[in-house]
Amino acid sequence: MPETPQPHVVPASGGEDGDQADQMLRQLLEQALRAAQLANQQAVKMAQDFAETYSREQKLARDLEAKVQELQLTQRQATVFAEDLAQMLRSERTRRRELERSMDQLRIANEELRRNGLQAISHLALAASIKDPGTGAHLQRVRRYVEAVAQHLGLPQEKVEELGYSSVMHDVGKIHTPDHILQSTDTLSPEQFEVIKQHCLDGERILGDGLFFETARAIAREHHERWDGRGYPSGLKGEAISLAARIVSVCDVFDALTSRRPYKEAWSVGDGMRTIVDGAGTRFDPVAVSALQALHERGLVEGIRAEVSDTAD
Ligand SMILES: [Fe+2]
Ligand SMILES: [Fe+2]
Repeated sequence: MPETPQPHVVPASGGEDGDQADQMLRQLLEQALRAAQLANQQAVKMAQDFAETYSREQKLARDLEAKVQELQLTQRQATVFAEDLAQMLRSERTRRRELERSMDQLRIANEELRRNGLQAISHLALAASIKDPGTGAHLQRVRRYVEAVAQHLGLPQEKVEELGYSSVMHDVGKIHTPDHILQSTDTLSPEQFEVIKQHCLDGERILGDGLFFETARAIAREHHERWDGRGYPSGLKGEAISLAARIVSVCDVFDALTSRRPYKEAWSVGDGMRTIVDGAGTRFDPVAVSALQALHERGLVEGIRAEVSDTAD
């Protein structure tokens, strides 16, 4: 509290004393007025200070409140955002789980399909072996040559395997060829040859329309086509013949030449290979021939022959 000024107290006396007393009274009054004025000024100043402080504090309080509201808003937004994000993650996880489940089912279905397909192949190959002894070993060797050639040409492993198992069915259509023609040791008549030719289309038909046998169907139909277009059944030329059939053609003929058949003895590997090389660009795809030749030079052809002999049937 500000200090209030104290009035000067003058002792009272008589006579002139009356004037003096008046004067003193006036002085006292003036002093009292000045003191009251001063006190009033100080009170006003205090009130102003208080009002100022109060309004400053009010402003601070308002700012603070606004800040708090702003923060609450931000927090609410953050909460909403976090909830949205969580929901997104939840649905993303669900989607991923569903996708993984579908992928698993697809894998299982594919595996099943593959197993059934491979089972069907072994049944068909068995049927062909029963009808034509020596066929089993021939099919195994052709498969091995085809896989080795495909690998040498840099095809992906999946494709190599597919070509291998599909090649086993190249002559599956011969199930319908009469035995007396199939096992004849005489030169075939043109009519008989027409019957033989039929095995390509029969094979394609036997293999149905499943995706698993797509390559096998192409091989069955086209393995007697020639690079120069003079083969059968359609006279396809060059790369119009599927790569699978071009590879099988080279391997099939090579094995037929170097195996014993009812109508001929087995040729030596050297003679067989020379005939194949001679046919490059006319009967055979030169690229497939070069691949088989490269395998022969690395001793792989002899290796396969040693592993799969004719007695394997
Ligand atoms: Fe054939
Ligand atoms: Fe064959």
